[in-house]
Amino acid sequence: MKTSDGLSRLRQKLERLRRQNLCLDMSRGKPEERQLDLSAPLLRMMDDGNFLAEGGVDVRNYGAYQGIPEARRLFGELLRLPPSQVLSGGNSSLNLISDALKRCYINGALPGDTPWCKLDQVRFICPAPGYDWHFHILETYHIEMLPVAMDAEGPDMEQVRRLAADPSVKGLICNPMYNNPTGITFSPRVVEDLAAMPTAAADFRLIWDHAYAVHHLYPDRRDQLADIYEACLRHGHADRVLMFASTSKITYAGAGIAALAGSPANIAWAEELIQYQLVCYDKVNQLRHVRFLPDLAAVEAHMKRHAAILRPKFELVLAILEQELGGSGLARWHAPLGGYFICLYTEDGCARRVNQLCQEAGVTLTPAGVCYPYGQDIKDNTIRIAPSYPSLEQLEQAMRILTLALKIVHAERREENGQHKEG
Ligand SMILES: Cc1ncc(COP(=O)(O)O)c(C=O)c1O
Repeated sequence: MKTSDGLSRLRQKLERLRRQNLCLDMSRGKPEERQLDLSAPLLRMMDDGNFLAEGGVDVRNYGAYQGIPEARRLFGELLRLPPSQVLSGGNSSLNLISDALKRCYINGALPGDTPWCKLDQVRFICPAPGYDWHFHILETYHIEMLPVAMDAEGPDMEQVRRLAADPSVKGLICNPMYNNPTGITFSPRVVEDLAAMPTAAADFRLIWDHAYAVHHLYPDRRDQLADIYEACLRHGHADRVLMFASTSKITYAGAGIAALAGSPANIAWAEELIQYQLVCYDKVNQLRHVRFLPDLAAVEAHMKRHAAILRPKFELVLAILEQELGGSGLARWHAPLGGYFICLYTEDGCARRVNQLCQEAGVTLTPAGVCYPYGQDIKDNTIRIAPSYPSLEQLEQAMRILTLALKIVHAERREENGQHKEG
Protein backbone atom coordinates (compact mmCIF):
# COMPACT_ATOMS: atom_id res chain seq x y z
CA MET A 1 0.00 0.00 0.00
CA LYS A 2 1.28 3.48 -0.89
CA THR A 3 1.73 5.84 2.10
CA SER A 4 -0.68 8.27 0.41
CA ASP A 5 -3.46 5.64 0.72
CA GLY A 6 -2.82 5.39 4.45
CA LEU A 7 -2.73 9.16 4.75
CA SER A 8 -5.97 9.72 2.89
CA ARG A 9 -7.72 7.12 5.05
CA LEU A 10 -6.48 8.83 8.21
CA ARG A 11 -7.58 12.19 6.83
CA GLN A 12 -11.05 10.86 6.00
CA LYS A 13 -11.34 9.58 9.55
CA LEU A 14 -10.43 12.99 10.94
CA GLU A 15 -12.83 14.69 8.55
CA ARG A 16 -15.67 12.49 9.84
CA LEU A 17 -14.81 13.52 13.39
CA ARG A 18 -14.53 17.17 12.37
CA ARG A 19 -18.07 17.08 11.00
CA GLN A 20 -19.36 16.16 14.45
CA ASN A 21 -18.65 19.77 15.51
CA LEU A 22 -17.00 18.67 18.71
CA CYS A 23 -15.90 21.18 21.31
CA LEU A 24 -13.38 19.50 23.62
CA ASP A 25 -10.95 21.35 25.83
CA MET A 26 -7.74 19.82 27.16
CA SER A 27 -5.91 23.12 27.35
CA ARG A 28 -5.79 24.07 31.03
CA GLY A 29 -5.25 22.13 34.24
CA LYS A 30 -8.54 23.03 35.86
CA PRO A 31 -10.40 20.93 38.43
CA GLU A 32 -13.75 19.63 37.20
CA GLU A 33 -17.05 20.30 38.96
CA ARG A 34 -17.08 17.14 41.11
CA GLN A 35 -13.70 18.14 42.49
CA LEU A 36 -14.96 21.61 43.34
CA ASP A 37 -18.01 20.05 45.01
CA LEU A 38 -15.70 18.22 47.43
CA SER A 39 -15.09 21.56 49.13
CA ALA A 40 -18.75 22.53 49.50
CA PRO A 41 -18.57 22.39 53.36
CA LEU A 42 -15.95 25.13 53.21
CA LEU A 43 -18.64 27.65 52.36
CA ARG A 44 -20.55 26.81 55.55
CA MET A 45 -17.60 27.04 57.92
CA MET A 46 -18.60 30.47 59.25
CA ASP A 47 -22.28 29.64 59.78
CA ASP A 48 -21.79 29.43 63.55
CA GLY A 49 -21.09 33.16 63.66
CA ASN A 50 -17.65 32.71 65.21
CA PHE A 51 -15.23 34.93 63.33
CA LEU A 52 -12.33 34.77 65.75
CA ALA A 53 -9.02 33.26 64.73
CA GLU A 54 -6.37 32.13 67.21
CA GLY A 55 -5.14 35.04 69.27
CA GLY A 56 -8.61 36.61 69.16
CA VAL A 57 -8.28 38.34 65.77
CA ASP A 58 -11.69 39.07 64.21
CA VAL A 59 -11.09 37.94 60.64
CA ARG A 60 -13.71 40.34 59.33
CA ASN A 61 -11.53 43.28 60.27
CA TYR A 62 -8.09 44.63 59.36
CA GLY A 63 -5.02 43.13 61.01
CA ALA A 64 -2.67 40.11 60.88
CA TYR A 65 -1.26 40.92 57.45
CA GLN A 66 1.10 37.92 57.79
CA GLY A 67 -1.96 35.65 57.86
CA ILE A 68 -3.80 34.03 60.76
CA PRO A 69 -1.68 31.64 62.86
CA GLU A 70 -3.70 28.58 61.85
CA ALA A 71 -3.10 29.21 58.13
CA ARG A 72 0.62 29.81 58.66
CA ARG A 73 0.79 26.57 60.62
CA LEU A 74 -1.05 24.60 57.93
CA PHE A 75 1.24 25.80 55.13
CA GLY A 76 4.21 25.31 57.48
CA GLU A 77 3.30 21.63 57.71
CA LEU A 78 2.92 21.41 53.95
CA LEU A 79 6.23 23.16 53.24
CA ARG A 80 8.09 21.70 56.23
CA LEU A 81 8.87 25.04 57.92
CA PRO A 82 7.87 26.59 61.25
CA PRO A 83 4.84 28.94 61.04
CA SER A 84 7.08 31.94 61.82
CA GLN A 85 8.78 31.32 58.45
CA VAL A 86 5.51 31.29 56.53
CA LEU A 87 3.28 34.12 55.34
CA SER A 88 -0.26 33.22 54.37
CA GLY A 89 -1.52 35.49 51.65
CA GLY A 90 -4.47 35.87 49.34
CA ASN A 91 -5.98 33.65 46.71
CA SER A 92 -2.98 33.12 44.45
CA SER A 93 0.54 31.76 44.76
CA LEU A 94 1.38 33.24 41.37
CA ASN A 95 0.53 36.64 42.77
CA LEU A 96 2.93 35.98 45.67
CA ILE A 97 5.63 34.91 43.19
CA SER A 98 5.11 38.05 41.17
CA ASP A 99 5.29 40.18 44.33
CA ALA A 100 8.46 38.41 45.53
CA LEU A 101 10.13 39.16 42.19
CA LYS A 102 8.87 42.73 42.36
CA ARG A 103 10.53 43.18 45.77
CA CYS A 104 13.84 41.88 44.36
CA TYR A 105 13.40 44.16 41.40
CA ILE A 106 12.49 47.35 43.23
CA ASN A 107 13.93 46.92 46.74
CA GLY A 108 16.58 44.21 46.44
CA ALA A 109 16.43 40.56 47.43
CA LEU A 110 17.36 41.48 51.03
CA PRO A 111 18.04 44.83 52.74
CA GLY A 112 21.30 46.22 51.35
CA ASP A 113 21.19 44.18 48.12
CA THR A 114 21.18 46.11 44.86
CA PRO A 115 17.65 46.25 43.43
CA TRP A 116 17.63 44.32 40.18
CA CYS A 117 16.09 47.28 38.35
CA LYS A 118 19.42 49.11 38.78
CA LEU A 119 21.36 46.41 36.95
CA ASP A 120 22.00 46.42 33.21
CA GLN A 121 20.91 42.85 32.83
CA VAL A 122 18.92 40.38 34.93
CA ARG A 123 18.55 36.82 33.75
CA PHE A 124 16.77 33.75 35.07
CA ILE A 125 17.23 30.06 34.47
CA CYS A 126 14.01 28.49 33.24
CA PRO A 127 13.83 24.69 33.14
CA ALA A 128 11.74 23.99 30.05
CA PRO A 129 9.22 22.74 29.25
CA GLY A 130 7.77 24.59 32.23
CA TYR A 131 4.75 26.53 33.42
CA ASP A 132 3.73 29.27 30.99
CA TRP A 133 2.64 31.68 33.72
CA HIS A 134 6.11 31.62 35.29
CA PHE A 135 7.50 32.72 31.97
CA HIS A 136 4.87 35.43 31.54
CA ILE A 137 5.70 36.85 34.99
CA LEU A 138 9.42 36.99 34.22
CA GLU A 139 8.67 38.65 30.92
CA THR A 140 6.67 41.41 32.63
CA TYR A 141 9.81 42.24 34.67
CA HIS A 142 11.91 42.23 31.50
CA ILE A 143 13.99 39.45 33.01
CA GLU A 144 15.80 37.55 30.28
CA MET A 145 14.86 33.87 30.32
CA LEU A 146 17.47 31.18 29.76
CA PRO A 147 15.86 27.83 28.94
CA VAL A 148 17.47 24.71 30.37
CA ALA A 149 16.46 21.22 29.28
CA MET A 150 14.46 18.99 31.62
CA ASP A 151 15.25 15.31 31.92
CA ALA A 152 13.79 12.54 34.05
CA GLU A 153 15.45 13.95 37.20
CA GLY A 154 14.67 17.64 36.66
CA PRO A 155 16.70 20.41 35.04
CA ASP A 156 19.99 19.51 33.38
CA MET A 157 22.27 20.45 36.26
CA GLU A 158 25.36 20.82 34.15
CA GLN A 159 23.67 23.60 32.21
CA VAL A 160 22.26 25.12 35.40
CA ARG A 161 25.68 25.22 37.10
CA ARG A 162 27.28 26.78 34.04
CA LEU A 163 24.64 29.51 33.83
CA ALA A 164 24.70 30.20 37.58
CA ALA A 165 28.39 31.13 37.24
CA ASP A 166 27.29 34.34 35.48
CA PRO A 167 26.59 37.21 37.93
CA SER A 168 23.70 38.53 35.81
CA VAL A 169 21.85 35.24 36.42
CA LYS A 170 19.77 35.99 39.49
CA GLY A 171 17.70 32.89 39.90
CA LEU A 172 15.85 29.84 38.69
CA ILE A 173 12.08 29.39 38.60
CA CYS A 174 10.58 25.93 38.84
CA ASN A 175 7.70 23.71 39.82
CA PRO A 176 9.67 20.84 41.36
CA MET A 177 7.00 18.25 42.12
CA TYR A 178 4.63 16.63 39.61
CA ASN A 179 5.97 19.31 37.35
CA ASN A 180 3.74 21.29 35.03
CA PRO A 181 3.89 20.02 32.30
CA THR A 182 6.33 17.08 32.45
CA GLY A 183 4.82 15.39 35.52
CA ILE A 184 8.25 14.52 36.89
CA THR A 185 9.54 15.29 40.41
CA PHE A 186 13.05 16.63 40.89
CA SER A 187 15.37 13.87 42.14
CA PRO A 188 17.18 14.13 45.50
CA ARG A 189 20.42 14.71 43.60
CA VAL A 190 18.97 17.69 41.70
CA VAL A 191 17.53 19.21 44.88
CA GLU A 192 20.86 18.78 46.66
CA ASP A 193 22.79 20.31 43.73
CA LEU A 194 20.44 23.29 43.48
CA ALA A 195 20.99 23.97 47.18
CA ALA A 196 24.73 23.40 47.12
CA MET A 197 25.90 24.87 43.80
CA PRO A 198 27.99 28.01 43.81
CA THR A 199 26.26 31.01 42.22
CA ALA A 200 28.06 34.13 41.04
CA ALA A 201 25.13 36.28 42.23
CA ALA A 202 25.02 36.32 46.05
CA ASP A 203 21.33 37.24 45.82
CA PHE A 204 20.46 34.25 43.58
CA ARG A 205 16.92 33.02 44.28
CA LEU A 206 15.25 29.67 43.65
CA ILE A 207 11.59 30.35 43.04
CA TRP A 208 10.24 27.03 44.31
CA ASP A 209 6.60 26.78 43.24
CA HIS A 210 5.34 23.78 45.18
CA ALA A 211 1.93 23.88 43.50
CA TYR A 212 1.38 20.09 43.50
CA ALA A 213 2.81 19.15 46.93
CA VAL A 214 -0.09 16.90 47.93
CA HIS A 215 -1.56 16.08 44.53
CA HIS A 216 -0.81 12.37 44.43
CA LEU A 217 -2.85 10.13 42.13
CA TYR A 218 -2.11 6.95 44.08
CA PRO A 219 -2.27 6.82 47.88
CA ASP A 220 0.53 4.26 48.13
CA ARG A 221 2.72 5.20 45.16
CA ARG A 222 3.97 8.72 45.57
CA ASP A 223 6.90 10.77 44.43
CA GLN A 224 8.93 12.23 47.28
CA LEU A 225 10.53 15.64 46.94
CA ALA A 226 13.65 16.25 49.02
CA ASP A 227 13.54 19.16 51.47
CA ILE A 228 15.08 22.10 49.63
CA TYR A 229 15.15 24.46 52.60
CA GLU A 230 16.93 21.93 54.80
CA ALA A 231 19.49 21.37 52.01
CA CYS A 232 20.00 25.11 51.46
CA LEU A 233 20.45 25.61 55.21
CA ARG A 234 23.00 22.80 55.38
CA HIS A 235 25.01 24.35 52.55
CA GLY A 236 24.97 27.83 54.09
CA HIS A 237 22.43 29.15 51.55
CA ALA A 238 19.32 29.52 53.72
CA ASP A 239 18.23 32.68 51.88
CA ARG A 240 18.48 31.08 48.45
CA VAL A 241 15.02 29.53 48.30
CA LEU A 242 11.58 31.16 48.29
CA MET A 243 8.81 28.59 48.50
CA PHE A 244 5.23 28.98 47.35
CA ALA A 245 2.05 26.92 47.61
CA SER A 246 -1.69 27.38 47.41
CA THR A 247 -4.94 25.50 47.78
CA SER A 248 -6.03 26.37 44.25
CA LYS A 249 -6.15 22.68 43.37
CA ILE A 250 -7.11 21.53 46.84
CA THR A 251 -10.23 23.65 47.40
CA TYR A 252 -11.17 26.27 44.81
CA ALA A 253 -9.03 27.30 41.83
CA GLY A 254 -8.60 31.04 42.15
CA ALA A 255 -10.55 31.20 45.43
CA GLY A 256 -8.22 29.28 47.72
CA ILE A 257 -5.44 30.56 49.95
CA ALA A 258 -1.74 30.84 49.17
CA ALA A 259 1.54 31.06 51.07
CA LEU A 260 5.14 32.19 50.82
CA ALA A 261 7.81 30.53 52.99
CA GLY A 262 11.55 30.84 53.42
CA SER A 263 14.41 31.84 55.69
CA PRO A 264 13.76 34.18 58.64
CA ALA A 265 15.59 36.98 56.76
CA ASN A 266 13.52 36.51 53.60
CA ILE A 267 10.27 36.43 55.55
CA ALA A 268 11.16 39.47 57.67
CA TRP A 269 11.97 41.43 54.49
CA ALA A 270 8.76 40.34 52.79
CA GLU A 271 6.75 41.30 55.88
CA GLU A 272 8.33 44.72 56.02
CA LEU A 273 7.41 45.49 52.42
CA ILE A 274 4.06 43.71 52.23
CA GLN A 275 2.63 45.71 55.13
CA TYR A 276 2.62 48.80 52.88
CA GLN A 277 1.26 46.95 49.91
CA LEU A 278 -2.03 46.06 51.57
CA VAL A 279 -3.54 46.30 55.06
CA CYS A 280 -4.15 42.58 55.15
CA TYR A 281 -5.10 39.62 53.00
CA ASP A 282 -8.53 37.95 53.05
CA LYS A 283 -8.54 36.36 56.51
CA VAL A 284 -12.18 35.26 56.26
CA ASN A 285 -11.13 32.89 53.51
CA GLN A 286 -8.08 31.80 55.51
CA LEU A 287 -10.21 30.95 58.55
CA ARG A 288 -12.85 29.00 56.69
CA HIS A 289 -10.11 27.09 54.90
CA VAL A 290 -8.35 26.04 58.10
CA ARG A 291 -11.64 25.09 59.71
CA PHE A 292 -12.36 22.87 56.73
CA LEU A 293 -8.79 21.53 56.48
CA PRO A 294 -7.15 22.06 59.88
CA ASP A 295 -3.93 20.14 59.28
CA LEU A 296 -1.91 18.17 56.77
CA ALA A 297 -3.68 14.91 57.67
CA ALA A 298 -7.02 16.52 56.75
CA VAL A 299 -5.55 17.85 53.50
CA GLU A 300 -4.22 14.42 52.59
CA ALA A 301 -7.57 12.75 53.27
CA HIS A 302 -9.26 15.39 51.11
CA MET A 303 -6.71 14.90 48.31
CA LYS A 304 -7.49 11.18 48.19
CA ARG A 305 -11.01 12.15 47.15
CA HIS A 306 -9.60 14.35 44.39
CA ALA A 307 -7.36 11.49 43.30
CA ALA A 308 -10.35 9.14 43.01
CA ILE A 309 -11.83 11.53 40.42
CA LEU A 310 -8.60 12.30 38.59
CA ARG A 311 -7.04 8.83 38.48
CA PRO A 312 -9.43 7.28 35.92
CA LYS A 313 -8.83 10.24 33.62
CA PHE A 314 -5.07 9.92 33.74
CA GLU A 315 -5.34 6.17 33.29
CA LEU A 316 -7.63 6.60 30.29
CA VAL A 317 -5.22 9.04 28.61
CA LEU A 318 -2.29 6.72 29.23
CA ALA A 319 -4.23 3.66 28.01
CA ILE A 320 -5.18 5.40 24.74
CA LEU A 321 -1.62 6.61 24.21
CA GLU A 322 -0.40 3.06 24.71
CA GLN A 323 -3.11 1.56 22.49
CA GLU A 324 -2.69 4.03 19.62
CA LEU A 325 0.99 4.89 19.79
CA GLY A 326 2.70 2.32 22.00
CA GLY A 327 5.75 0.82 20.31
CA SER A 328 5.25 3.00 17.21
CA GLY A 329 8.15 5.30 17.96
CA LEU A 330 5.91 8.25 16.99
CA ALA A 331 5.89 9.76 20.47
CA ARG A 332 7.03 9.25 24.06
CA TRP A 333 5.45 10.20 27.35
CA HIS A 334 5.81 9.73 31.09
CA ALA A 335 3.14 8.29 33.39
CA PRO A 336 3.06 10.75 36.29
CA LEU A 337 2.12 9.72 39.83
CA GLY A 338 0.46 13.05 40.52
CA GLY A 339 -0.20 16.61 39.42
CA TYR A 340 -2.36 17.76 36.55
CA PHE A 341 -0.51 17.04 33.33
CA ILE A 342 0.81 14.46 30.91
CA CYS A 343 3.46 15.62 28.51
CA LEU A 344 3.63 14.09 25.07
CA TYR A 345 6.84 14.42 23.08
CA THR A 346 6.43 13.98 19.34
CA GLU A 347 9.17 13.72 16.76
CA ASP A 348 10.78 17.12 16.24
CA GLY A 349 8.83 19.50 14.03
CA CYS A 350 5.38 17.96 14.62
CA ALA A 351 3.73 19.53 17.69
CA ARG A 352 2.45 22.71 16.05
CA ARG A 353 0.84 20.86 13.15
CA VAL A 354 -0.74 18.29 15.51
CA ASN A 355 -2.14 21.15 17.55
CA GLN A 356 -3.56 22.77 14.42
CA LEU A 357 -5.25 19.56 13.24
CA CYS A 358 -6.74 19.02 16.69
CA GLN A 359 -8.06 22.58 16.75
CA GLU A 360 -9.69 22.07 13.34
CA ALA A 361 -11.36 18.93 14.66
CA GLY A 362 -12.71 20.72 17.73
CA VAL A 363 -10.07 19.78 20.32
CA THR A 364 -8.36 22.65 22.09
CA LEU A 365 -4.91 21.85 23.40
CA THR A 366 -2.55 24.20 25.22
CA PRO A 367 -1.23 26.38 22.39
CA ALA A 368 1.94 24.96 20.88
CA GLY A 369 5.12 26.43 22.31
CA VAL A 370 3.70 28.03 25.46
CA CYS A 371 5.53 25.63 27.78
CA TYR A 372 8.78 27.32 26.72
CA PRO A 373 10.18 30.79 27.44
CA TYR A 374 8.98 33.31 24.82
CA GLY A 375 6.67 30.60 23.45
CA GLN A 376 9.59 29.08 21.59
CA ASP A 377 9.54 25.31 21.47
CA ILE A 378 12.59 25.17 19.25
CA LYS A 379 12.24 21.44 18.63
CA ASP A 380 8.48 21.85 18.12
CA ASN A 381 7.89 18.53 19.86
CA THR A 382 5.97 19.21 23.09
CA ILE A 383 2.24 18.73 23.64
CA ARG A 384 0.75 19.30 27.10
CA ILE A 385 -2.30 17.20 27.92
CA ALA A 386 -4.52 18.41 30.75
CA PRO A 387 -6.96 15.56 31.54
CA SER A 388 -8.69 17.00 34.61
CA TYR A 389 -11.52 19.11 33.21
CA PRO A 390 -13.24 17.07 30.46
CA SER A 391 -15.50 14.12 31.29
CA LEU A 392 -14.18 10.61 30.62
CA GLU A 393 -16.28 10.44 27.46
CA GLN A 394 -14.97 13.77 26.17
CA LEU A 395 -11.44 12.79 27.10
CA GLU A 396 -11.70 9.56 25.12
CA GLN A 397 -12.91 11.46 22.02
CA ALA A 398 -10.24 14.12 22.42
CA MET A 399 -7.46 11.56 22.83
CA ARG A 400 -8.61 9.60 19.77
CA ILE A 401 -8.44 12.81 17.77
CA LEU A 402 -5.07 13.78 19.20
CA THR A 403 -3.50 10.41 18.42
CA LEU A 404 -5.10 10.40 14.97
CA ALA A 405 -3.73 13.88 14.28
CA LEU A 406 -0.31 12.70 15.32
CA LYS A 407 -0.46 9.75 12.94
CA ILE A 408 -1.56 12.07 10.12
CA VAL A 409 1.33 14.44 10.73
CA HIS A 410 3.76 11.55 10.61
CA ALA A 411 2.21 10.18 7.44
CA GLU A 412 2.42 13.67 5.90
CA ARG A 413 6.07 13.87 6.80
CA ARG A 414 6.78 10.43 5.39
CA GLU A 415 5.06 11.41 2.19
CA GLU A 416 7.00 14.68 1.98
CA ASN A 417 10.27 12.85 2.57
CA GLY A 418 9.32 10.32 -0.10
CA GLN A 419 8.61 13.11 -2.58
CA HIS A 420 11.92 14.80 -1.76
CA LYS A 421 13.73 11.56 -2.41
CA GLU A 422 11.87 11.01 -5.66
CA GLY A 423 12.49 14.67 -6.63
C1 LIG B 1 2.91 25.21 38.63
C2 LIG B 1 1.75 26.08 38.96
N1 LIG B 1 1.91 27.11 39.79
C3 LIG B 1 0.88 27.91 40.12
C4 LIG B 1 -0.38 27.73 39.58
C5 LIG B 1 -1.48 28.66 39.94
O1 LIG B 1 -1.53 28.81 41.32
P1 LIG B 1 -2.42 29.90 42.00
O2 LIG B 1 -3.83 29.69 41.61
O3 LIG B 1 -2.17 29.67 43.46
O4 LIG B 1 -1.92 31.26 41.58
C6 LIG B 1 -0.59 26.66 38.68
C7 LIG B 1 -1.90 26.46 38.06
O5 LIG B 1 -2.07 25.76 37.10
C8 LIG B 1 0.49 25.82 38.37
O6 LIG B 1 0.35 24.80 37.52
